Amino acid sequence: MTKDLFGKALLDYHKGNYTEDLITSTNISDEDVLPLPYLFRAYSEMPKLEKKALQLCKGNVLDVGCGSGSHSLYLQEKGFKVKAIDNSKGAIRVAEQRGVLHTELKPLLEETDTFDTIMLLMNGTGIFQTLEQTPKYLNHLKTILNPNGQILIDSSDIKYMYQDDDGGYWLDMNANYYGELDYFLSYKGEKETPIKWLYLDFETLKTACETIGLDCEKIMDGKHYDYLAKLSI
Ligand SMILES: C[S@@+](CC[C@H](N)C(=O)[O-])C[C@H]1O[C@@H](n2cnc3c(N)ncnc32)[C@H](O)[C@@H]1O
Repeated sequence: MTKDLFGKALLDYHKGNYTEDLITSTNISDEDVLPLPYLFRAYSEMPKLEKKALQLCKGNVLDVGCGSGSHSLYLQEKGFKVKAIDNSKGAIRVAEQRGVLHTELKPLLEETDTFDTIMLLMNGTGIFQTLEQTPKYLNHLKTILNPNGQILIDSSDIKYMYQDDDGGYWLDMNANYYGELDYFLSYKGEKETPIKWLYLDFETLKTACETIGLDCEKIMDGKHYDYLAKLSI
């Protein structure tokens, strides 16, 4: 069971009780600060990949793992019909309180409505957790996609995280896929239950898509090994 520390942090920030940021780390990297204001970013503060994804939206939109609802709010203001889902209770409460009109507390695999655009942003592949589970998630996304619909998803090739100072890689070829990380989160001294979080390089995502009959096109590269992809049937 998770403690929903992510949701608690969003709620604190939203209520004006911002005193600390979230602290993240992974099995291959040290502690890092995830600033809460970033999770409430306005369109002008979003990375170019996210701006591009928002510009490409069409029809009715599903925002998967909506967090505080920043992307949904932008689209709503532009006149789009948007549904925002998240499996964090705190996130959904904040998204509602910020004005997202259609929200639901549910994991992606329980979504059954259908959409013209499905958006998964801020390392959208993270939600798949492992490479092994990726086909299950992609298949599900396919079943909730309308004809001529699109899935907009961002991720990164994190091979650079395994690079030594001398430029060599310390990848263990017998281990699981290198983008599968154990992800640790803490907030105000409390530790969240560790989760699996998946970063997929574009070629691996494309192969997984093709295996289940989805087209996968790279829309844009980001600043640091990240990219935006568009999946369609
Ligand atoms: C990195 S945050 C991104 C939040 C938001 N999209 C943004 O860009 O600020 C990932 C979000 O996905 C949610 N999440 C993780 N697994 C999920 C799942 N299986 N179904 C729905 N939401 C999920 C988390 O609770 C969290 O709010």
